[in-house]
Amino acid sequence: MSFRSLPPIAIYFVLLMSAYSPLAWCMRDKVQSVHQHGDLRALYINTLKKSVTGILLETQSYQPAASAKESQLRVVPFQREKRINGEDWPVQGLSMVGLKRLDNLETLFNHIEALKIPGDLIECGVWRGGASLFMRGLLKAHGVTDRTVHLVDSFDGLPKNSTGADDDGWSEMEVLKVPLEAVQGAFERYELLDRQVHFHKGYFRDSLPAFRQFFTGRIALLRMDGDMYESTTDILYNLVDLLSPGACIVVDDWEIPVCQRAMKDFFATHSLEPTIHHIDTTAVYFCLEDPVKLNMGWYDSFNAKRVT
Ligand SMILES: C[S@@+](CC[C@H](N)C(=O)[O-])C[C@H]1O[C@@H](n2cnc3c(N)ncnc32)[C@H](O)[C@@H]1O
Ligand SMILES: *[C@@H]1O[C@H](CO)[C@@H](O)[C@H](O)[C@H]1NC(C)=O
Repeated sequence: MSFRSLPPIAIYFVLLMSAYSPLAWCMRDKVQSVHQHGDLRALYINTLKKSVTGILLETQSYQPAASAKESQLRVVPFQREKRINGEDWPVQGLSMVGLKRLDNLETLFNHIEALKIPGDLIECGVWRGGASLFMRGLLKAHGVTDRTVHLVDSFDGLPKNSTGADDDGWSEMEVLKVPLEAVQGAFERYELLDRQVHFHKGYFRDSLPAFRQFFTGRIALLRMDGDMYESTTDILYNLVDLLSPGACIVVDDWEIPVCQRAMKDFFATHSLEPTIHHIDTTAVYFCLEDPVKLNMGWYDSFNAKRVT
């Protein structure tokens, strides 16, 4: 059928729906803006990762060392590979976890969103807050308003060892002591400080039981980053029974022997054999399909043997 043989009204309709019609242009704009928003979201998320890790400005790093004073730590030039793998401590930067662990955090976030695993996101051991801030940024970028990010820390560094399972070097590390106000200030500068962020101050053995008292929700994603046997143990025995089925746990310090031992002791005590996924040279994650009933007898006797 030729153009000429169409009735005039049909020709008008064809013209209307053609690529030159205002309607078609309007549709096209809509499609384009969806694409642009998707691109901008990815760009924001990636820029956030690079910003909190210090990769954006290629900031110097502290040579990790169990030395006490910040002024005694050696400062070395930026090394991209180390920062990607979270193997150094940025002098300027809000997180030491590195790019791969933030990529993984995004993957796990997308996983819990896709599977609609209900609950909040929580990090125990936040330092300057960068990984938690990234989690809040993920909620923002995806318009998620029904999840909260919880930050749990002494905001004063690690505790003195209360058992023989740890040594007492950690509490001396000044560079790990970041005040609550400094972490909140960072959230404020990123415009991410709001009702979807909660701070819980105190050593885990105190702050986590307090958290349990008021918390009526569930946890969908738990980031454990407390380095020590006791910190790892306190996190597990206070939070694992609050996980939603299918929730995921990131263990930042898997390669620290005492941390891995605390994890394996917990697995053995609870007959758990989760599939451990390696994220990079240091961190792992696993997800738990079934609810865990905590063996509080074990934890009670652990606590009974601790010095205060
Ligand atoms: C390695 S840093 C955490 C790094 C952080 N996740 C990041 O993104 O850079 C360890 C943090 O855990 C905290 N921490 C470790 N054990 C703790 C405990 N038992 N109670 C409270 N805070 C603890 C320290 O204060 C410190 O801020
Ligand atoms: C803490 O660690 C030191 C070694 O660094 C050890 O001598 C001490 O006994 C530990 N404290 C406790 C309560 O076991």
